[in-house]
Amino acid sequence: MANVFEVLEKDHDEVKSMMAELETGSPPAREGESRRTPGRKQLVDQLIMEESKHEAVEEQYFWPVVRELVPGGHELADEAVRQEQKAKFTLEDLIGYQPGETRYEQMLTGLIQEAREHIAFEEERVWPELRLVLSPERSVELGTKIERAKKMAPTRPHPHTPPNPGLLKATSPLVGAADRLRDLVTGRARH
Ligand SMILES: [Fe+2]
Ligand SMILES: [Fe+2]
Repeated sequence: MANVFEVLEKDHDEVKSMMAELETGSPPAREGESRRTPGRKQLVDQLIMEESKHEAVEEQYFWPVVRELVPGGHELADEAVRQEQKAKFTLEDLIGYQPGETRYEQMLTGLIQEAREHIAFEEERVWPELRLVLSPERSVELGTKIERAKKMAPTRPHPHTPPNPGLLKATSPLVGAADRLRDLVTGRARH
């Protein structure tokens, strides 16, 4: 079974590769385009969905453990959650993304840069500290919880919901279900 670092790293790697693909500039969506070569809008949608789910489950399960176990964990978690909140507002704006529009492309460029910095903050500043204090058993337990929660997590960023772990845990499955239904209706879930 995967531990929490392996679970989160898999997500980070996925996001990093989507961002790299967006930077190289995949072509705009076309009618009948194959699923294996998603267009730019589809790729942005995927990035929004992936990041929304990832940050939601970190806020529910990961940051509370950092706060509990890591010396100086509150400061690290506060900074990371601040970065995540900021990103959620940009992700929300990007939902209306249309490839090629200057405003959106600029937003996307900014998001990619900040997402890289955020991932580096987590992997380089937080993970090494947590590795020192998290037992292997608890690491696997946390990884399992995160993997499970991600299946039901919101696929939209919800920047106006306070990043309170208890509140998010209580509302996440409902909000996630509503998001998935909306994804289905709008065709967003097809990609
Ligand atoms: Fe994060
Ligand atoms: Fe992360």
